[in-house]
Amino acid sequence: MQVVEKIISNFTNNQSLYIGENVTMSQHMIQAAMLAEKAKCKKEVICSCLLHDYGHFIIENPDELVESNLDGEHENIGYEYLKSFFKEEIVEPIKYHVLAKRYLARDKKYFNKLSEASKISLNLQGGVLNDDECKEFERKKYFKSSILVRKFDEAAKKTDIEMKSIHQYKKLLTSSLI
Ligand SMILES: [Fe+2]
Repeated sequence: MQVVEKIISNFTNNQSLYIGENVTMSQHMIQAAMLAEKAKCKKEVICSCLLHDYGHFIIENPDELVESNLDGEHENIGYEYLKSFFKEEIVEPIKYHVLAKRYLARDKKYFNKLSEASKISLNLQGGVLNDDECKEFERKKYFKSSILVRKFDEAAKKTDIEMKSIHQYKKLLTSSLI
């Protein structure tokens, strides 16, 4: 199956809730993309948002292609799989979206706004970055996009908004392939 068709079918078939929230994984990722669109972000950032938690789909339902190297966290699993198909500016922020949360969580205001589930996972992900880790992250080429993806990620948990369908993103996905 072509990768775009596979992604669309994963989104369509997904029923599981985003950990600790009341939206499904698909709804969560589509909402993140919708927020990036609303903020008039570049299409690469929109596509990153749309696929940022794709690793969770792989963990839940691995196929023969990825079963053999399923070690690591969802951001790495998603990145490792998607980098064969999508441009660097799309997959790098996916790899760093958890690091971006650990970076942003140094700010008390940001931390306090995190959902309970997100606060718990922050600890499991290694907690807040220290000064050196922050500087290192700031030097990364896709630092700014990673922060953007993270901010839309945090906000994409609403249950009362009109949702787009994954099919409406087919063109974006296809045009983002390497
Ligand atoms: Fe997310």
